[in-house]
Amino acid sequence: MSDRPTPVLRAEGLVKTHYGEGAPAHAVRGVDLCVRQGEFVAVTGPSGAGKSTLLHLLGGLQRPDAGSIWLDGDCTDAYGEARWAVERRKRIGIVFQFFNLVSNLSVADNVELPALLAGVPPKQARAEREALLAELGLAGKERSMPGELSGGEQQRVALARALVNHPPLLLADEPAGSLDSKGTREVMRLLSRFHQRGQSIVLVTHDARLASSADRVISFFDGRIADDAELDGMPTRGTGISGVLELRD
Ligand SMILES: Nc1ncnc2c1ncn2[C@@H]1O[C@H](COP(=O)(O)OP(=O)(O)OP(=O)(O)O)[C@@H](O)[C@H]1O
Ligand SMILES: [Mg+2]
Repeated sequence: MSDRPTPVLRAEGLVKTHYGEGAPAHAVRGVDLCVRQGEFVAVTGPSGAGKSTLLHLLGGLQRPDAGSIWLDGDCTDAYGEARWAVERRKRIGIVFQFFNLVSNLSVADNVELPALLAGVPPKQARAEREALLAELGLAGKERSMPGELSGGEQQRVALARALVNHPPLLLADEPAGSLDSKGTREVMRLLSRFHQRGQSIVLVTHDARLASSADRVISFFDGRIADDAELDGMPTRGTGISGVLELRD
């Protein structure tokens, strides 16, 4: 037996082509990826490179045309929608690029819902929700509906929702995409706390400050991993917000 811990996430040979109106989009063209327990991986790359598609595959929201994904060593090849939904409730928190909040539920209910679905007692779900929203600077917005919030606020609610069940793995697609620097700092602080507790993060971002707080940066280009670099010399590792590191290039 190997004494290496099982990776929290492993993917091999992932391929995904989208067939829409125009020419087929070869969004993911053969990706191998391993995320260790507790690792924080940033994924950067130009628009259209396939980053969101990759994240959707990793979270079971889309099925690959080829390739396999393992969660904690379990092969997901045979998982159907229902099984993936359970995994997302228990093991994987997801922040989508375009939030996907439930528009007719309040902010509080959006955040508490995954916890309640996972069987967390309502009192505890409420306490978690209050703590997360306070950390993200959203105290007082509990009763608002998503449509009454700014884009940045909705984004933070989506992050709170993804974290409420303390998933071992967080997949986040541009969680600070439309935030100002204060909002970005709040998101970074929360991600760092999550990381320090030993949880793993795969973060798609254009933001060099966010990427610089990761352990590893993957450059995604034209459906493939073009570069995969550990960030070293990490005096701010795990704190994330106290300085900006240069990305190794
Ligand atoms: N549902 C879909 N139907 C058809 N084509 C799609 C679909 N989703 C994505 N694509 C195409 O696949 C390619 C990759 O898209 P994807 O959204 O994964 O890129 P991205 O790296 O996340 O870009 P961005 O940084 O702009 O979010 C693009 O060419 C896009 O137009
Ligand atoms: Mg995207």
